[in-house]
Formats: sequence, structure tokens, C-alpha cells
Amino acid sequence: MIPYTPEPFTDFSNPKEAQGFEEALAKVRSELGLQVPLVIGGQRIATEQTSASINPSRYGETVGVVAKADRTHAEQAIQAAHYAYKVWSRVSPEARATVLFKTAAILRRRKHEFSAWLTVEAGKVRAEADADTAEAIDFMEYYGRQMIALAKKSDDLLVPMPGEHNRLEYIPLGVGIVIPPWNFPLAIMVGMTVASIVAGNTVVLKPASTTPVIAYKFYEMLEDAGLPPGVINFVPGSGAEIGDFLVTHKLTRFIAFTGSRDVGLRIHELSAKQSEGQIWLKRYIGEMGGKDSIVVDRDADLEAAAQAIVASAFGFSGQKCSACSRAIVHQDVYDEVLRRTVELTRPLKVGDAADHGNYTGPVVDRSAYEKILEYVEIGKGEGRLLTGGGTPEADRGYFIEPTIFADVEPNARLMQEEIFGPVLAFSKATDFDHALEIANNTEYGLTGSVFTRNRAHIERARQEFHVGNLYFNRKCTGAIVGVHPFGGFNLSGTDSKAGGPDYLLQFAQLKLSSERL
Ligand code: NAD
Ligand code: ALA
Repeated sequence: MIPYTPEPFTDFSNPKEAQGFEEALAKVRSELGLQVPLVIGGQRIATEQTSASINPSRYGETVGVVAKADRTHAEQAIQAAHYAYKVWSRVSPEARATVLFKTAAILRRRKHEFSAWLTVEAGKVRAEADADTAEAIDFMEYYGRQMIALAKKSDDLLVPMPGEHNRLEYIPLGVGIVIPPWNFPLAIMVGMTVASIVAGNTVVLKPASTTPVIAYKFYEMLEDAGLPPGVINFVPGSGAEIGDFLVTHKLTRFIAFTGSRDVGLRIHELSAKQSEGQIWLKRYIGEMGGKDSIVVDRDADLEAAAQAIVASAFGFSGQKCSACSRAIVHQDVYDEVLRRTVELTRPLKVGDAADHGNYTGPVVDRSAYEKILEYVEIGKGEGRLLTGGGTPEADRGYFIEPTIFADVEPNARLMQEEIFGPVLAFSKATDFDHALEIANNTEYGLTGSVFTRNRAHIERARQEFHVGNLYFNRKCTGAIVGVHPFGGFNLSGTDSKAGGPDYLLQFAQLKLSSERL
């Protein structure tokens, strides 16, 4: 088999690619307003209650009208997954992986189309959307190969014993509930879903409420690739209405969640309680929030640091768990890094994600918009506002300018709480020790980056900067599947390391059988 290599990003300076994306956008626009049903056991189900998925760049544009599952549907979905498990768990790992490879091939052919859906439903500009689509392809190619390798590897793990034939097998767990976030509505949703099924489990997929259309489009593609009915059951609905029901159900064997700290903690707690009739411990694979820092040392390449801070803080309007929301800068170079970061930020254009003249698009919905603007007000009391804070074209979409506050105390709310928007705080460190102390002073531990030319400082940070993904002299966003396995410490989650060599183990259990010869 050809070894896995990450999907290259599209070069939009190539006019053919740029035109391809525009054509895809036109095709997607012609489909806007589509009806999205539930899919349970392969059956399309329309519901009386629906919700509208709205383009955050254009309030007036309905991306899709989406069926809404209630508890009866959630029960049916779990039963359908339970039923399908009997067969799917016996399908060979190679055959399961083939469904992923076929789906990856389809997605590669329809890359711009899926990126265009990401533009209209999640507000991603084309480069961010393209990276999301590429990561989805990577997850399928990578986990497919990982599963095949895992199935072969297990026999070699045992010490031979004369007179016995011993066998170790990775077998699936059962029915899993997959609950993805909206901010990587394709990649993360695909990653958690395909990891579950390639390991032989069946799934109830509850997509994020703001991005269900892209999830449905992905489900259709899996069907085209030959996925049998019931292996994935698609139940858009409100987390509050069906979330607890799915998580606490006695047939639920594991929950794969990515989202906020508060929802993740709740699911963790609920999943630890035994429901009536439940005969196993549920597994919780949970990746949660971040409050990520870039540290700039006194001898760093200051231009590279400022550019990385801007890219990490304001790409996709800061709506990444990996985004830099804290710049911690040595006092000797603080003014220079701050000046240059502001200088690079001021010209960034915010507006409709479909317009490729814009650096970034909107934030995802009204509640995010209001929450971020509250933090902008809090920031005015906690630091010096140097740029941003405005809301251009507020009558059209949820646009917020990239915003920078200077001189923020390390324990201020702006430095501690996940804002999940384009708001960056600068704090001054007296020396490198102090910088590391500030970098570690949150309850999170997801990503971090250090800019320095000092080898001793690199090695100290490697040991002491307590984050799951630590980068040196580069931005703290943009992990690539297989290259930078991704997951966080502390309240950032279970450190499951998506896109890493051990990820699939969390979706499997090991069975030993021993036969006397
Ligand atoms: P969220 O927690 O609001 O929602 C995540 C998912 O949980 C959604 O599908 C939502 O519908 C569902 N949900 C909500 N309430 C529920 C309940 N009671 N029971 C079951 N499901 C429920 O998060 P979000 O706003 O979608 O995503 C942003 C958050 O995700 C940020 O905190 C970000 O840092 C985090 N995130 C983390 C990673 C990571 O790898 N660590 C990656 C992406 C996003
Ligand atoms: N995996 C994404 C990144 O690294 C969140 O930015």
C-alpha cells in the first residue's frame, strides 16, 4: 500500500484552482436551503421540528433546513447502531478501511465543493476551508492504514510459549456517540467518526448545531462509498434535548467528544455513572478548550514571532482550540514585538468569508458574537486596547475586528478564560523563568509556542511548558495528521492525540485467546 502522506494544501495563486473554488461556491449556493433529514438505520426521516443553519457572513442566507431529533429518534438511532454492530464488528479491518479510502478519494475529487460548504456554513475563508477539507482526507487515509497495521501487529506482541497458540486481537467496543464541535466541522467530525467505525464500532453522530449541513454531506459521501446502513446514524438535534439521553444510555459504550470545557466535563461526569442495565465502564475520549500562549524570548527572531502571533491569533478569527490568545513577551523586546504585531494586524480585512480579499470571516453565531464582544469590554478594563474591537458590517454578518490588548496581568480574565474569538492579550515577562511561569498558569494545556534562539531555553521549555502540543519558532496552530498528533493536558482533555499512532487504541479493546496444542 502507498504510505500515508498528508494532503497538500491548494495553491490558490494558481488561477485554475481559484476558478475551481469559485465554481464550487456557485454550485453550493445553488443548493442553499436544502432539507437535511435524520438518517437512522439508513432511513431518511423528516421531522416536524426543524432548525435553520445560517451563513454567519450573511444573516439572510439559510444554508439548510435541518431535521431535529428528539429522544424517540435518539433511542431509535442507538438501537439501529446496536443492531448494525453485530455485522459491522465482524467485517474485516481491511474492508472497513477500504470504505475510508474510497470516501477519501471521493472527497479529494470534490475538495473545492466541500470547502465551499465550509465557507458558507462555518464562515471559513477559502484557505482555512481548504485546510479543514485536507485534514478530513488525512484522517481517513491515516486511520485506514493505522487500522490495517494494528490488526496485523497484535500477534507479534506476545512472547511465544511452546505447546500453546496464543492470539491477541484488537476488537471493537460497541456503540459510540460522536459529538463534534462546529469549528472544524468537517475535519474533527470526520476524524472522530471514521476512527470509531474503522475500529469496528457503530456510531450515533450528533453534529454541532451550527454546522449540520456539512456533516450530512459527509454522511452522503460515506454511503456512496458503500457504508452499510446503521453503521452511522445521523441525528442532528439540540445537545440539551438529546445529549444527556445519548450519553447516559445503557447501550452506549463510548463517547467521542470535542468541544468546550463545560460540556466536556458534564459528559465526563455523566458517562462515569452506571445506568440501569449497563454492564460496562463507558470510555470517554474528550478533547476540550484551550488558552494557548506564544512566548517570545529576548533573543528571538522578532519578525517571525510577530507574524506567527498574528497567524495563530487571528486565523479563522481565533476560533481554534489551538489559537494564540496570550502573547508572553520578554520585557527587553516587549515594545518591539507589540508594535510589530499591531502593525501587521491593522491592515487585516474582515468580511464575507466568500470574498477572498478578506483575511478572515465572521464568528460563528450570535451567541459567540455577543460573548466575544463582552470580553472586548472586559479587556478595556484589564489592558490597553491597541487595535480592533469594532464590528464592521454588523447589519450583514457576525464580523469582529482582530483585537489586541497590551499590558494585561497574567491572572486577568483575558489571560485565563477561553474567549474563542479574535482577541489577543499581551503580558510582559521579566525573564524566561517568569515567561514559563505565566505560560503554565491556566487550567488548560493544549498548545503553546516558544520563540528563542537559546538552546538551553528550548530544552527547558520542552520539559517545563506543560502543553500537549509544544512548538518552537513557529505558530501554535495548524497541526497536521500523522505529523503533529493533537491533544491537550489538564482541562484541555484526555490527550487522545488525534492523528497520532495510538489514537485508534481508544476505540478498541484487546482480547487474548490461548489454545493448548
Ligand atoms: P460546545 O461544547 O458548545 O459543543 C460541542 C458539541 O457538544 C456540539 O456538537 C454541541 O451540540 C454538543 N453539546 C452541547 N451541549 C451538550 C450536552 N449537554 N450533551 C451532549 N452534547 C452537547 O463546543 P463548540 O462551541 O461546538 O466548540 C468550541 C469548543 O470546542 C471550544 O472550547 C474549543 O476549544 C473546543 N475545541 C477543542 C478541540 C480540541 O481538540 N481540544 C478542537 C476543536 C474545538
Ligand atoms: N488541529 C487544529 C490545529 O492544530 C486545531 O490548529
